Amino acid sequence: MSSSSKPSGSPWDKPWDVFRESVRELGFFMALRYLLIYALSYKPVDDDSYDRINGTDTSGIVPTRNLDIADDYTRWQANLFLASPARITRYMIDAPLNGVAIDPSEYTFVDYGSGKGRSTLVAAEYPFKAVVGVEISSELTATALKNREIMQPKAAAPIEFICADARSYQLPDGNLFLHMYHPFGQDILREVLASMRSQLLEQGETKRRIVVPYLFSVAMAKAVFHEFPEFVRVHDVFCMNPQYRWTLYEWQEM
Ligand SMILES: C[S@@+](CC[C@H](N)C(=O)[O-])C[C@H]1O[C@@H](n2cnc3c(N)ncnc32)[C@H](O)[C@@H]1O
Repeated sequence: MSSSSKPSGSPWDKPWDVFRESVRELGFFMALRYLLIYALSYKPVDDDSYDRINGTDTSGIVPTRNLDIADDYTRWQANLFLASPARITRYMIDAPLNGVAIDPSEYTFVDYGSGKGRSTLVAAEYPFKAVVGVEISSELTATALKNREIMQPKAAAPIEFICADARSYQLPDGNLFLHMYHPFGQDILREVLASMRSQLLEQGETKRRIVVPYLFSVAMAKAVFHEFPEFVRVHDVFCMNPQYRWTLYEWQEM
């Protein structure tokens, strides 16, 4: 797996061919309009600003087909690896969630599908009780662990990366901030929520707050959350770039 390369065969490998084809299909001015929109848009794959500042390796893209996940079903349900921009993670932590800002020192942060670890490392800028990244790919986890060596000395929270399937992750006690950046397809999301639900009901601790901010809040994810009435959809946060819309769910035991 080449973890930092773009998917091979991407049409953007030959931008002039794409432009010529667009002119043929759409006419010159329409093609030019789309070219400008593309040129001015934010491209997360090319954003390595966090790494340039910190000397880490959290960027790039790994398409689903190249993820080192042995089981076919689990691999095809996985979404590609692409890191979320650091400022989005900070915004999600700083935002008043359901009207109440969280005090990180009272929460454990967990990133489901942590990839090379950027969101988890950014969360460690805050004094969480602990920050935990859970990632199924051992190659991505190995990179995250190298990043941890660089960032732990300057972090405000203990950082842990676990190579595991999110379905088997055992929730810690206390208040939880369970971050998801559209990590998997609907069947695995359903299984993960079912696992969380049964653990939370079993733990039976009532005086705790569990928030699940879901980044890239697509209709499919909303539909699956809707199957679990205890995960109440509290609000949707809009952003001009649909990729960075997120929905906050909060656990409320029935
Ligand atoms: C969109 S990336 C998110 C990267 C990271 N959370 C961030 O915000 O920078 C989704 C990640 O979920 C991981 N993933 C997919 N299926 C998984 C599973 N069943 N268990 C754990 N991780 C999984 C993928 O390998 C990929 O790295």
